[in-house]
Amino acid sequence: KLKIAIVGSGSTYTPELIEGIIKRKDVLPLTELALMDIDRRKLDIVGELGARMLKAAGLSCRVVLTENLDEALEGADFVLGQIRVGKLPARVLDEKIPLRYGLIGQETCGIGGFFKAMRTIPVMLDIAKRMKELCPDAWLINFSNPAGILTEALLNHSDVKMLGLCNVPYNMFRSIRSSLGLERAEITYVGLNHLSWITAIEQDGKDYLQGALAMGLNSEAMKNIPSSGFSRELIQTVGAIPSSYLEYYYFKEKKLRILRESELSRGEKCIRIEEELLGIYADSELHVKPELLSSRGGANYSEVAISLVDAIYNDKQEVHVVNLLNRGALEFMEDTDAVEIGAVIGKDGAKPIALPGFANRHIIDYMRMVKAYERETVQAAVTGSEEAAMRALMMNPLVGDYDTALACFRELKEAHKAYLPQF
Ligand code: G6P
Ligand code: MN
Ligand code: MN
Repeated sequence: KLKIAIVGSGSTYTPELIEGIIKRKDVLPLTELALMDIDRRKLDIVGELGARMLKAAGLSCRVVLTENLDEALEGADFVLGQIRVGKLPARVLDEKIPLRYGLIGQETCGIGGFFKAMRTIPVMLDIAKRMKELCPDAWLINFSNPAGILTEALLNHSDVKMLGLCNVPYNMFRSIRSSLGLERAEITYVGLNHLSWITAIEQDGKDYLQGALAMGLNSEAMKNIPSSGFSRELIQTVGAIPSSYLEYYYFKEKKLRILRESELSRGEKCIRIEEELLGIYADSELHVKPELLSSRGGANYSEVAISLVDAIYNDKQEVHVVNLLNRGALEFMEDTDAVEIGAVIGKDGAKPIALPGFANRHIIDYMRMVKAYERETVQAAVTGSEEAAMRALMMNPLVGDYDTALACFRELKEAHKAYLPQF
């Protein structure tokens, strides 16, 4: 038997995952799919579409829609986490309140991402605890954001087997391979989640990075980031190709201006897209993933998640970029730091691929600074220490100033108080 449980199945991204499961039906003989969400309305609409998609594709696995976490977890082999604590309205607060303090409002970076971590870490740790009882051998594959910080929390504060995932690496690889016309290029990816760079491109032993830097090659921007792209000068200065999330750091002032000028925040736009999607999903004639879903930032999310399940289940020993503990792979990071790098994936999990002698000082220093923020963030989330919270925010390059951080922290803490058990 093979059981997959999806926690947060009411997400309108779920048809993405179902599509991935269908695509791999011959190598993943699924017997049960448990779809769990606390929002009954979304669970039913999205879950029923999922069941129709599976049936239309000829899969006969059992599909269970449930609001009960334990029922979903019981006997699962893989648990896919895609929760959003407080749903999109909480995201909108993370995006809009910081703007009034002159701070970037973004769901995973800066102080908005900090509060998303505060809301999500306690819930994910609880899921990990339930897994220990109900499916101790299962893998938790987490897509919930902030994915890197959640990996840091789960792997250092629970004993669940887990990997953190994001679609940025996959999309960057795809875009770079296609821009350079190098289908088999071996690409080195280094960073933390949503703070990452491409630092080597090779094919048949030949280096293509220098050429890419010289031409100022960008990777395709994510759909959710209003992107202006990096100039050739910037890319040469950095000596690597940054992910589009680096725009929040490298173009902090410009980004802040754009965010302040836009009438709707990304979360508000997503609320509209989501309602429209739910309307489409509710049509009982629909048996496939609708095109509108591609206007969300999660493109290729299913490929990333389900190919990882395949690699573990079928012991493929293939390389995927995942979030996991460093364990010596990067000499300049601590063993217990969660990093987003290439790893060899098989039935025993993920072995991070070492990058001995990695020497891009800018990247090393940036990663260490943001990791210091992330480490304190996890401390704040698990202990409720407001001092740890302030130390975290003072280290975050998108926050920094103590008085500003404190004032904004207080307002966000009040705004989110229903979801912050630790404070
Ligand atoms: C990208 C990121 C995800 C993020 C998503 C947001 O895919 O990698 O971590 O959740 O964009 O997209 P949205 O449509 O919700 O703004
Ligand atoms: Mn099994
Ligand atoms: Mn991501």
